[in-house]
Amino acid sequence: MRKPLIAGNWKMYKTPAEGVDFARQLAPLVDGINDRDIMIAPAFPALEAVGGALKPTSVALGAQDLFWEADGAYTGQVAPRMLVACGCRYVIIGHSERRQYFGETDETVRRKVIAAVKAGLVPVMCVGETEKEREAGQTFPILDKQIKNGLKDLIADDLAALVIAYEPVWAIGTGKTATVDQAQEAHRFIRSHVAELLGSTLAEGMRILYGGSVKPENISELMAMPDIDGALVGGASLKPDSFSRIVKFN
Ligand code: PGA
Repeated sequence: MRKPLIAGNWKMYKTPAEGVDFARQLAPLVDGINDRDIMIAPAFPALEAVGGALKPTSVALGAQDLFWEADGAYTGQVAPRMLVACGCRYVIIGHSERRQYFGETDETVRRKVIAAVKAGLVPVMCVGETEKEREAGQTFPILDKQIKNGLKDLIADDLAALVIAYEPVWAIGTGKTATVDQAQEAHRFIRSHVAELLGSTLAEGMRILYGGSVKPENISELMAMPDIDGALVGGASLKPDSFSRIVKFN
């Protein structure tokens, strides 16, 4: 019922030329795949070039962040319609690195989700607990807070395309993956929480991605879980070979 989505988050890697090179190598590796959605999120300067190189493929373009204003004197920020003009369909919002290093809060996440929806972009809203929070038994309260605040004032009609990415902070870039049971438990919690907030129709149709050290070796067991609908892949999305092997999980 839910079409899987495999998304690559390139973070601060790849120039436009390097991104185009990747896209050209990826294209034949994912040719003809249409039973799952694929997305790549390059850094802002590479969006347009990579988007152009992905045009003949079914791989969609995403951005890693956006600002909530439509335009104005906001040095260094990028507006939603600029992303649309570059060919973006998706935008990642509230990644833990942005929360940790760049002052992103649940409130800025909320504003960005609203801005993305208004611009017709699919928001990929990231949530997840730190290691300390998990050890303190705070995983569910943290997810509860991030989701409730991040989606406050939004209604189900606005969020038909919403994607949530569950990324336990302690599993990002560390090689430590959550066990499939830990991931499934968190995904189940997220889905039931969204059902309470926005109704079960939206929650049952909503894709929840797992992120944190996803690799070709662990994608299949993750995807076998009932509430895991895809992956947000960092490190392993940087090489066409490993990314395409993740895309082709079975
Ligand atoms: P990772 O990153 O796959 O390198 O752990 C995931 C992410 O941060 O989205």
